[in-house]
Formats: sequence, C-alpha cells, structure tokens
Amino acid sequence: MQITVGCKVCELKVTTRIDDIKKALDSLKQFRKHSISPYHERYAFPFLLGSYFVYRKIDVIRLFSIAKAISDNPRYLDVGCGYGDFLNKIREFIPDAIGIEKNAEIFYSFGISKPDSIKIVDATWGIEEKYDIIFVGWMEPGVDLRDAIAAKTDVIVTTLDQGLSLAAEFDGLGFERIARWITPSWEDVNTEIMNKYYTRISNETRKALYRLRSAHNLWYVYSRHPDKSKAIRLALLQREKEEKNSKDRYDFETVLDEFGFGYLESLKYCGINKHHYLWKIIYLET
Ligand SMILES: C[S@@+](CC[C@H](N)C(=O)[O-])C[C@H]1O[C@@H](n2cnc3c(N)ncnc32)[C@H](O)[C@@H]1O
Repeated sequence: MQITVGCKVCELKVTTRIDDIKKALDSLKQFRKHSISPYHERYAFPFLLGSYFVYRKIDVIRLFSIAKAISDNPRYLDVGCGYGDFLNKIREFIPDAIGIEKNAEIFYSFGISKPDSIKIVDATWGIEEKYDIIFVGWMEPGVDLRDAIAAKTDVIVTTLDQGLSLAAEFDGLGFERIARWITPSWEDVNTEIMNKYYTRISNETRKALYRLRSAHNLWYVYSRHPDKSKAIRLALLQREKEEKNSKDRYDFETVLDEFGFGYLESLKYCGINKHHYLWKIIYLET
C-alpha cells in the first residue's frame, strides 16, 4: 500500500502550477483505491477537496452571524477562495457571497467549469468594490494583501496558521481585533488519519504523537468601526449560547470527533495554554 499519498499535496502550498495539480490528482486517484472513508480526503487533499483550515458548521454560522450583525443583506467577499469549498458553505446562508481567486488553472485542471460566484482576479492590484465583510482563509506565506483588503471593508475575518501570521494581521491598519478562536491544523488532522488508517504504527506511538500537536489554525475577527464591533460581539455571544445545544453539523465533522478535535476540547496537551479550548471564542476588549 502507498502511504505517502496525502503528503504530495503539501507542495501545493506555495505553488499551484498546473503540473502540481495534475500530480495531486494522480495521488488522489491512488488514495481512493485504499481509502476507507469518504471524509478522509478533504484533510489529505485540502487544496483539491477541502480547505487549508479546519472548520465545522458552527464556523460557517459564526461568519454568517457576523455578516448579519452588520447588514440585513450583507455583501460578503472571500479573497483567495481556491475552488470555493468554504465559500459554497457560506453561500448556503448568504447566496450572494462571492470569491476572488487569481489562479484560473484550478478549474481547468480539475475539469470543472468556474462558477459565476468566483471571479478570477489578482487582489494585489486592488479589489474593485466595497464589502460588509471580507474573509481570507489561509493565505500563502509571503502573500500580503492587507492594503487591498483594508481599503474595501470595515470588517475582516482571517484564518492563519500559528506562527505564520504577519501578513494576515490587520492591527496596524486601523483595525481592532475583537474576537478570536482556534480550530485544529488540517495537517494534524491528516496526520492522525494517516497514522491510524494508512500506516502500521502502534496505538501507543499514536497516542504519544497525539501529544505533540502544536500548530493550530487561528481565526481572527477585525473591525474598525465601533458600532460594528459592538454588534459583532453581541452576535457572537448569542451564537455561543445557541451552539451549546446545536446538533447542526457537516458529516465530515465525525473525523474531528474521532481524533479528539472536539468542540471545546481542551488544548492542555498542546503546550498552548491549559485553559484554552478549541472553538472557544475569546473576546478582546480595548
Ligand atoms: C493556501 S490557498 C487557500 C485556499 C482556500 N482559501 C483554502 O483555505 O483552502 C491560497 C489561495 O489564494 C490564492 N491567491 C494567492 N494570491 C492571490 C491574489 N493576489 N489574489 C487572489 N487570490 C490569490 C491562491 O491562488 C490560492 O488558491
């Protein structure tokens, strides 16, 4: 059995040339010959079938709540949306939400037609219109679109890997970071899947490795408008109450539950902060 199938996709983090996409598609074909769950591939192949950040339905609804707190009919933009995995989830709540993506090859090499909701645009040269909220899900290290984004909105939500943050932080551009939460790193989820189902390492070794989880995905909510900040805080507080009893989830979330990436799971083993919990919202008051 091939056990390195999922790893090739890492090459795509920095370069998404058409050859790399073809290689990843070949790896995916191989993976599917041995795959034991349809929910594994979105973590093994985030660029092709998932997202570079791990999310649950509650994250999508949090963004929807933030957008609705600002406007009844929010204008929502996803910058660098890839083929639109997360954007499509958002569009279930905000049907007019759109994305921009600079790499048209994504669609050609997948053999799919580009949906109208995604425009092929290089945001480096500016974003044309204004939006109530702009979302940036895991921008590549070295790509800095902060000026272009800050020029077109008062509210930004970003996700970024711990330790790779600079170009995703908007504090220096007149924005206030008003809330944050943590979700697992997709690489940790993928490692767990590979170690349990596609390699022969023992359970004890797996458990020891579990404690080495370190990088996480950070979600930051920024605003530069005091009234909007206040409305967003209230909306998130309300969401938190509703989430506690919510059974609203995507099928692929079973993978997260199985591997100890639960809602409000403690991060005490991860060397972060023993009082820190996955998906717990931390409010930052100024
Ligand atoms: C790491 S991927 C993340 C894709 C998706 N947001 C996700 O999390 O799965 C970053 C994406 O941003 C796109 N991108 C990079 N620079 C861009 C720019 N200047 N304008 C628009 N999109 C850009 C890349 O082509 C790539 O699809």
